[in-house]
Amino acid sequence: MERRPLIAGNWKMNLSLRDAISLAKDIVTGILDIEDRDVLIAPPFPFLYPINKAIEGSKLFLGAQNMHWEEGGAFTGEVSGLMIRDVGCTHVIIGHSERRIIFKETDEMIAKKVKKAIDLGLYPILCVGERLEEREDGKTFEVVKNQLEGGLSLIDEIPDTFIIAYEPVWAIGTGHTATPSQAQEVHSFIRKWIEERYGKEKASFIRILYGGSVKPENIKELMAEEDIDGALVGGASLKVDSFLKIVRF
Ligand code: 13P
Repeated sequence: MERRPLIAGNWKMNLSLRDAISLAKDIVTGILDIEDRDVLIAPPFPFLYPINKAIEGSKLFLGAQNMHWEEGGAFTGEVSGLMIRDVGCTHVIIGHSERRIIFKETDEMIAKKVKKAIDLGLYPILCVGERLEEREDGKTFEVVKNQLEGGLSLIDEIPDTFIIAYEPVWAIGTGHTATPSQAQEVHSFIRKWIEERYGKEKASFIRILYGGSVKPENIKELMAEEDIDGALVGGASLKVDSFLKIVRF
């Protein structure tokens, strides 16, 4: 089964409103002739609404970088899935390693977010990935399996639109991309895990993205791997030239 590639830009906590809108518009123009793949941006929360207006009618997808698991209430500083859906998001990144490590998100919290996102009709991008010391200890598969089991513990069926991103922590923002075979090994492990749990057909639909120092120079060889269906790009998604080169791998 041919899975449609998805290139997603995670802008993290970067850019001014003006630069964010202009980058989004430049991406819209840059992908006008592209038909065979999906492109998504995940700007910071305050920019979602104006960017949704700026890209209206285009085929660029809009995602948020996080959401809370409740629809509303006394959760100072948090943003709900209802709110991000309201401002035009179709996708939401959940369980990014920066959320797990810096903001102490647990698999239980991530599982509640995944469930709420699906209930609200949002497409989750669930991030998993091991730290350097875990890889060195030979625990990569164990860590990834635990994160998958934890993050999906509250749902019985995953929708075909569910997206998983494998982002080895040691490759994020370091310039040390996983080699295509290192990434493929884990992607294939993830697909087998989905197959065992949800069946072969489901496993053939689910897109698994690679993230961690993706650049125009390494995207082609990563995408050549059988189980790598796209990329979640950080730093290189902040400049239109490098992002579009990645999109056009
Ligand atoms: P970099 O591409 O900057 O390494 O970031 C990857 C990432 O964390 C995307 O979510």
